[in-house]
Amino acid sequence: DSSELTPFEIFFQKIEKFSKLHMKDRDRVQEILQSMQKAGSKTLQVISDFDMTLTRFEYNGKRCPTCHNILERSDVISSDCKKKLQGLLDKYYPIEIDTTLSVEEKLPLMVEWWTKAHELLVNQKIKKDGLAKAVRDSDAKLRDGYKDFFDHLHEHSIPLLIFSAGIGDILEEVIRQTEVFHPNVKVISNYMDFDESGVLKAFKGELIHIYNKREGALLNTGHFQELRTQTNVLLLGDSLGDLNMADGVQDMENILKIGFLNDKVEERKQSYLDSYDIVLIKDESLDVPNAVIRFLT
Ligand code: C5P
Ligand code: MG
Repeated sequence: DSSELTPFEIFFQKIEKFSKLHMKDRDRVQEILQSMQKAGSKTLQVISDFDMTLTRFEYNGKRCPTCHNILERSDVISSDCKKKLQGLLDKYYPIEIDTTLSVEEKLPLMVEWWTKAHELLVNQKIKKDGLAKAVRDSDAKLRDGYKDFFDHLHEHSIPLLIFSAGIGDILEEVIRQTEVFHPNVKVISNYMDFDESGVLKAFKGELIHIYNKREGALLNTGHFQELRTQTNVLLLGDSLGDLNMADGVQDMENILKIGFLNDKVEERKQSYLDSYDIVLIKDESLDVPNAVIRFLT
């Protein structure tokens, strides 16, 4: 008899029905959610990765672009450079998702990928005022339910940190063009540095790549200091490197980690189940994060 179910039980039954949702320890997930709900929405902050977490992995059977891909495929890049960047993607992306290599083995190769790609981009003399068109012309796509996600967090004054190893200028443009770049959104990412005539001359600050989000978080203590009363965290990611995005959070009480598993599903399923509380397998929507946020607010 459903009339005897508590609001929590009704909510939890609902999310458990999502066929793409997997959990290793459902009791633990229940505990975290109940504890977060008790603490109230004023104590909540959301920390999310961008590429392949807030954006779609696939659309109509075709892969969707990352921030880097948006730029690489646009007409601000010469065809010769496009070939080189594609060559890097073909070489290094398989390494990124390889399950036979350890993080220690992958790390220097990932640094190599980002460094080489950024060098090629800087050599292209990209103009700042060409970025908006590059994004407009691209196949970039936020996941289904993105509007609800961004708007709801904004309406409830819940801080959203987008923590990306992509390109800050591009990701900002994506969320600006989709009209969800609300004032509660803060971005930590790789930002382009332009000279006085608006031509790309370098990338600013320390490089953020897939495996140093911990260091990136610790460089931004000011942000986490401002949010020290938001001690409950909803974390969204698609890579195991994203699990470190909350390492700068002060006095953390609870963290619920939701991971999107988009690629190499069978090989990576167990490690994702071991590290994320909730794993969403080949789910192109934000339905589960949205249901969780609605329950917590
Ligand atoms: O936003 P997020 O942290 O997910 O951005 C990192 C992603 O960017 C990686 O998963 C990687 O596949 C992708 N990337 C890329 N081209 C590069 C470097 C990284 O598409 N040159
Ligand atoms: Mg990602």
